[in-house]
Amino acid sequence: MKKIIIINGPNLNLLGVREPEIYGGQRFEDYLAELHRMYDGAAQIEYFQSNVEGLIIDELHRTGFDHDGIVLNAGAYTHTSLAIADAIRSITAPVIEVHISNVHRREPVRHHSMISAACAGVIAGFGMDSYRLAVEALLAMKSA
Ligand code: DQA
Repeated sequence: MKKIIIINGPNLNLLGVREPEIYGGQRFEDYLAELHRMYDGAAQIEYFQSNVEGLIIDELHRTGFDHDGIVLNAGAYTHTSLAIADAIRSITAPVIEVHISNVHRREPVRHHSMISAACAGVIAGFGMDSYRLAVEALLAMKSA
């Protein structure tokens, strides 16, 4: 069974409460329970969330050599963090960059990602379903 971790960055602990008109009304824990049901027996899906850049990097290091894939929503660090981009380049597991919103329809500051070039692929704009699409992409990858 493939081992996948979803890593969520800053402010994503407030999904369901935070700007629901952009991010929807569902708590991530509830969505994760749905994912676990969907992939029961097909993938082992772990979850980590932190608002702290260094802790996200630590988690990438911890999981990046023995997991089959990483789904990363780095939140606003997407647009700023060379350190997270370097961490992605330092590990062997494929990383899929995920965004709930379509960042390209939003403010120009969200159009640039520091991490995209280090990732295997990018999925944005499908609401919470972006995470499932990323899991599907990892499961379909030969190396994952
Ligand atoms: C986000 C988009 C980012 O621009 C923003 O800072 C977030 C969430 C998304 O999932 O749409 O925190 O990554």
